[in-house]
Amino acid sequence: MRTYLVTGGAGFIGSNYIHYMLDKYGDEIRIINVDVLTYAGNLENLKDIEQLPNYRFIRADITDKEAITKIFAENDIDRVVHFAAESHVDRSIHNPEVFVQTNVLGTAVMLNAAKAAWEREDGSFLPGKKFLHVSTDEVYGSLDEDGGYFYETTPYAPHSPYSASKASSDMLVKAYIDTYHFPANITNCSNNYGPYQFPEKLIPLIINNALHGKKLPVYGDGKNVRDWLYVMDHAKAIDMVQELGCLGETYNVGGHNEKQNIEIIHIILDVLREKLPDSDPRKAQISEDLITYVEDRKGHDRRYAIAPDKIKAQIGWEPETRFEDGIRKTIEWFFENEDWMANVTSGDYQKYYEEMYSNRK
Ligand code: NAD
Ligand code: DAU
Repeated sequence: MRTYLVTGGAGFIGSNYIHYMLDKYGDEIRIINVDVLTYAGNLENLKDIEQLPNYRFIRADITDKEAITKIFAENDIDRVVHFAAESHVDRSIHNPEVFVQTNVLGTAVMLNAAKAAWEREDGSFLPGKKFLHVSTDEVYGSLDEDGGYFYETTPYAPHSPYSASKASSDMLVKAYIDTYHFPANITNCSNNYGPYQFPEKLIPLIINNALHGKKLPVYGDGKNVRDWLYVMDHAKAIDMVQELGCLGETYNVGGHNEKQNIEIIHIILDVLREKLPDSDPRKAQISEDLITYVEDRKGHDRRYAIAPDKIKAQIGWEPETRFEDGIRKTIEWFFENEDWMANVTSGDYQKYYEEMYSNRK
């Protein structure tokens, strides 16, 4: 039975990945989820699987060397899938330090602990051990509106404290690969959307605000482009890279689905109108009039677009969920899980929203 150590498994992508893996492999695998439970970590995301004998949650900080070393010492870990990070660009602009702490130092601790557990006396690594570092397309910087794509060979040019911290963590992984022949892969993925996404990110924020008749804040001119990928397609890509990828390689993961932010907002409003029954009083307040242009994000990257050619050619992965289907599934999930949204938007979220949006002109 193969044992996975998943970091950040209580967050958005991590919890979807754990669901994906347990659905796919059942009790052929064991998953240990290590998460410190920041504002973004939520054990409700895993309620349906928490009783499984082959799943275990450990609350620990990835920057806590002792705690992480102990987890490796007590468990024969075969695979690490490293999601844990501070992930929100706007928060990184307000408070960069924790991004360096978690994303850079935390990754160094994870790498060191895995290396210590898996390295043999002659400097080679135990066979079958693999570390996958989950990263982002934002490390490549920004593209022009009229063309170009991010390839694995595109030079790094991060702009935000978030992307700079992720770029630094990628560099550490690359250094371990080059220096020690450490058995790792990196995936650089585009914007994800789907169930369990925290409503600080564009898609769940717009869904939640529209349902409450609140303003829909659009940064700048709304024409920034992101390449959206349904989260379960990302989960599948991670698994395929770890099983079929060439160790030491980086793979770009993307949806071939570029859209301007303003287009995304119009689509969400249309789908909400389509899905809400006429008898639902919220339907009447869903309106384009809620769209409000606000001060732009500082250093706002104009366009991201991944070329997922290498992962398709070498591994056979390609995006499966069309955006029209993925966004409907996502909105249906939010309808069926209104308590989830109510819980995550109570308390501290209100304070966050006030701080982030009340001063935007
Ligand atoms: P998220 O913010 O939803 O979840 C992050 C998780 O990490 C949370 O459960 C949090 O509690 C945990 N965590 C944070 N600091 C920790 C620490 N010090 N120790 C242990 N756990 C800690 O993030 P997400 O959107 O699910 O992103 C997951 C990973 O994927 C990140 O590394 C991110 O950079 C990367 N990524 C995200 C996207 C996207 O669109 N969301 C796209 C590409 C790559
Ligand atoms: O590209 C991958 C990255 O995608 C991940 O690495 C990050 O972890 C993830 O947060 C995401 O970063 P973005 O900054 O692209 O995502 P966000 O949802 O914050 O914003 C998407 C776009 O929408 C961006 O151009 C900013 C804009 N936006 C966002 C918010 C929250 C708005 O116009 N209004 C908003 O209120």
